[in-house]
Amino acid sequence: MRSHYCGQVTETLLDQDVTLCGWVHRRRDHGGVIFVDLRDREGLVQAVIDPDTPDAFANAERVRNEYVLRMTGRVRRRPEGTENPNLATGAVEVLVRELEILNRSEPLPFQLDDSDTSEEVRLRYRYLDLRRPEMQERLRLRTRVISVLRQFLEQHGFMDIETPMLTKATPEGARDYLVPSRTHPGSFFALPQSPQLFKQLLMMAGLDRYYQVVRCFRDEDLRADRQPEFTQLDIETSFMDEQAITDLMEEMIRQMFKAVLDVDLPNPFPRMPYDTAMRRYGSDKPDLRIPLELTELSDLMADVEFKVFSGPASDPNGRVAALRVPNGGKLSRREIDLYTEFVGRYGAKGLAYIKVNDVTAGREGLQAPIVKFLPDETLAKVLTRTGAENGDLIFFGADSAKVVNDALGALRIKLGHDLGLVHGAWAPLWVVNFPMFEWDGQGQCWNALHHPFTAPRTDDPAEVRAHPEHCLSRAYDMVLNGTEIGGGSVRIHRQEMQNTVFELLGIGPEEARAKFGFLLDALKFGCPPHGGLAFGLDRLVMLMAGAGSIREVMAFPKTQSAACLLTQAPAPVTEAQLRDLNIRLRRTP
Ligand code: AMO
Ligand code: AMP
Repeated sequence: MRSHYCGQVTETLLDQDVTLCGWVHRRRDHGGVIFVDLRDREGLVQAVIDPDTPDAFANAERVRNEYVLRMTGRVRRRPEGTENPNLATGAVEVLVRELEILNRSEPLPFQLDDSDTSEEVRLRYRYLDLRRPEMQERLRLRTRVISVLRQFLEQHGFMDIETPMLTKATPEGARDYLVPSRTHPGSFFALPQSPQLFKQLLMMAGLDRYYQVVRCFRDEDLRADRQPEFTQLDIETSFMDEQAITDLMEEMIRQMFKAVLDVDLPNPFPRMPYDTAMRRYGSDKPDLRIPLELTELSDLMADVEFKVFSGPASDPNGRVAALRVPNGGKLSRREIDLYTEFVGRYGAKGLAYIKVNDVTAGREGLQAPIVKFLPDETLAKVLTRTGAENGDLIFFGADSAKVVNDALGALRIKLGHDLGLVHGAWAPLWVVNFPMFEWDGQGQCWNALHHPFTAPRTDDPAEVRAHPEHCLSRAYDMVLNGTEIGGGSVRIHRQEMQNTVFELLGIGPEEARAKFGFLLDALKFGCPPHGGLAFGLDRLVMLMAGAGSIREVMAFPKTQSAACLLTQAPAPVTEAQLRDLNIRLRRTP
């Protein structure tokens, strides 16, 4: 039907005939001559229809925005002074001979180039939203990223193997999406939260290197970087330790960034232990583009008179920390109030601060309500530890370590952006040396920080049982600009260790057998040492596209409340369907 894409019509085609198909982006009637900007996936070109071709002209008069046209004409140079340097096709236009209307369009519910359209409307008419060049560019980027990653993995001997979607619960920490079984009344499949156990079984099967671009399903609270179904680049290898796996994976990401964005990422990526990340950034996914850091003060504050500080400082689960803001002294009272409100969202009960007017003048040089509660010596140490300079502002957090980390960690990012302190475009790193377990005070039990199949650093189950609190895992997360883009680990490959970990997580032998019997069996028959990781592809593409949410790089995402506005899913089903599935809904009278 066509000879070229609209976006391909450049000076190289001067004086040639082209046939184009596309949508009417804009039509202008210049009294006697009609201009149509025709748009397709590859771009936009200006077409000119004049009354010398009466049939084409008559059709062009009926044309409206978003009509679908096919046109044939000759490429010519635009008259001097009418070129559009912002357009790849801006030096030329097509003088149309034939113009066929392939389809009409009603006026659209929103203007494609209106950037104020609400997300609700965009999602409801996603097929129109996706006509926008910006959205098409993002999907194109996504294709390219996946293609380059696949090439790398296939060059390195990874096999693309599919795993089931109708399966059993896989524990990645979220709620499952369940699918009722018709043939087994009362029983349910779970959609996979990840292919974790299947990829481990593939290693036990001797496949050695596996990958898959795979949909995962998690029923959890949604955010800008979380969707109920999302795509992982899932990877597993045998006979490689964490160093070898992370080396290979960062090489893959480096090559992909070079190929797709022409960006040189650092070689090697920095590696940061989990406890360093928490101490310095209050986060296990620090954004290293922001130079602000937390300073530990717990040891200085245990005996001060100021209860707000001494309480958390002398509590083993508490923390007192400072965040120095260079030149922050210029922040107004009102701005400080807004930051106090901001950290409140993370549970902080306040945001104490000190303005540093003169570091050499003792307490006289410091300005803040809390100064009077702190001894000279303590104030002096706060200044040296934070490296304070005249004109700085020091914020303080005092609470449980979790609240302080969450609040100051988030404040650090916010200040970084507000004060224009974000340096450089790309800051990848590995976070390593995670604890195996974290204590859940509410449930009074240990939880796995990654998943229950992650190997501990020690090979000795007795040591794990004796000191779960000191036990580090062989997990690693890849972090880019403050977002966790991937995570994985070396796995447990011996049954005894797997049983020990289940036990510590409060999964008794019967429950372990019922849930993971197949895995425990497989561990008996010559399981190789293995490990891997999974990248969140949507997050990776979101960052590369500079988009604010993963919804912007998915063709058909769901809303924050996990609904599809386009198809109106989820939706009620008929009584007959429910009967088939042996499901009876309790109806409120
Ligand atoms: P994990 O749960 O860390 O590990 O997931 C891997 C990566 O997937 C992305 N991700 C998400 N992206 C969008 N929406 C979500 N709801 C969502 N949840 C996770 C993140 C994350 O880093 N089986 C293990 C991997 C392994 O151990 O090999 C796993 O799924 O970028
Ligand atoms: P108050 O004694 O409650 O008036 O608090 C004095 C200062 O300490 C105020 O600036 C509060 O914002 C701040 N503050 C109170 N609680 C905390 C806390 N848990 N962490 C940090 N600062 C706090």
